[in-house]
Amino acid sequence: MICEIGEKSDLKSQHLKIHGQTKLKGTVRISGAKNSALVLLAASLLSDEKITIENIPDLTDVEKMKNILKTLGVKLVNEENKLIIDSTDLHNSELPYELVNGLRASFFCMGSLLARLGEASLSLPGGCKIGKRPIDEHIKGLKALGATISSKDGFILAKIKNNEKRLIGTKISLECPSVGATETLIMAATLAKGQTIIENAAREPEIQDLCQMLNKMGAKIFGAGQSKIIIDGVYRLKGCFHKVIPDRIEAGTFLIASAATLSSITISPVIPQHLEAVLDKLRETGSKIAIKGNQISISTKLIKPTNIETAPFPGFPTDLQAPFTALMSIAEGESRICENIFENRMNHVALLNKMGASIRIEKNIAHISGVKNLKSESLIGLDLRSTAAIIIAALTADNLSIVGGLEHLDRGYESFECKLNNLGANITREYNERIFVDPKNASRDLPSNKKNYQAA
Ligand code: UD1
Repeated sequence: MICEIGEKSDLKSQHLKIHGQTKLKGTVRISGAKNSALVLLAASLLSDEKITIENIPDLTDVEKMKNILKTLGVKLVNEENKLIIDSTDLHNSELPYELVNGLRASFFCMGSLLARLGEASLSLPGGCKIGKRPIDEHIKGLKALGATISSKDGFILAKIKNNEKRLIGTKISLECPSVGATETLIMAATLAKGQTIIENAAREPEIQDLCQMLNKMGAKIFGAGQSKIIIDGVYRLKGCFHKVIPDRIEAGTFLIASAATLSSITISPVIPQHLEAVLDKLRETGSKIAIKGNQISISTKLIKPTNIETAPFPGFPTDLQAPFTALMSIAEGESRICENIFENRMNHVALLNKMGASIRIEKNIAHISGVKNLKSESLIGLDLRSTAAIIIAALTADNLSIVGGLEHLDRGYESFECKLNNLGANITREYNERIFVDPKNASRDLPSNKKNYQAA
């Protein structure tokens, strides 16, 4: 299934005006991890007691997930930077297309709804346009746990077999270490009868974060962060307090932006161990890295070329492939970047070439000949990370660039341009009807929340 972004949004008619030849300086605060927050929200459905989650990032993807929870009958209260989630009245197990469209992570609710209510019905998920992104591993695993799964009119219907109340623990061996499937199955197995063993599980830090929260809720999960996870099912889960881990992808994006602009910045808070593969590549490409507690400082005077292969954690993350390609496009020599996780994650290459980069794609490999400078352009980012990549490129370019695609950017980066401006960039977010109106979707009316502001 190809995932699509179907929503019409005011963000589509906004763009960033980015002044090039920027130098960055100072410290940037890293937000809570998007990919953790999304799955933690889905996991909160597993308990009928209150869950309090701190450090949830302010992102459009997270807003969509909150709306999904509300539709299911969950009460949400925002208190300072905490979200209190009360699923006592969870009654609805059906999620329509309008809600799950564009948010692939909505499928995470399948595991928790099934475990808590015995059934779930979800429209097929959306997400980034970065490949097929099937859900066969989620489905196979849920079936192995004792669910019957059918599909009708674009809906997946899951029910525990024979009207049983609980799923039944079993051994599941994933064909690929899918992050989403590992998360769906962990959530489903927490309330199952007996023991579940997941082999070839994903090891990403967001999975460790999920298991930590579930264990605080009373789950019995062992081996999170390893490729064999053991879950002893429990009868019920209780409330808890949890703080989302820092976003390693946002952190990596700022480090790469700093390197590309030959700058020196500090990022904080971060968990440096979550970024080891990225830090290794930044060191190899000429940056100096200093780690002190939960802070990382980077300083760059030259950009050397390198070769990268994306891989599941602890390998180089696919989510930073596009930003690193932008960095290598101005390196002093030839680089090769191989995308091994998603088959259609090279959207940024044509955009970078428009800015004067010299990148040739051969299958899933980008062959990059570094150029001295990129030139300013008007461009539209096509997915979350490709938009971040061209913003980084625009910061280095010779003049003023205009970047659209903010409906993707705001899915996954909290106040991205504000944070860059705090580091000394000169970026303005504007509404402009003329530049990026898609004639098929265009509304000629100005949005009511028209914004034209210089970020603080
Ligand atoms: C998650 C992250 C995303 C990140 C990706 C890989 C969230 C919300 N998103 O996405 O940012 O880029 O991990 O680190 O956490 N696959 C199958 N069958 C399945 C599931 C996946 O073949 O049932 C394949 C996919 O096509 C892909 C690979 O496995 O080639 C990895 O996908 P997966 O780890 O599941 O990514 P997501 O969970 O969608």
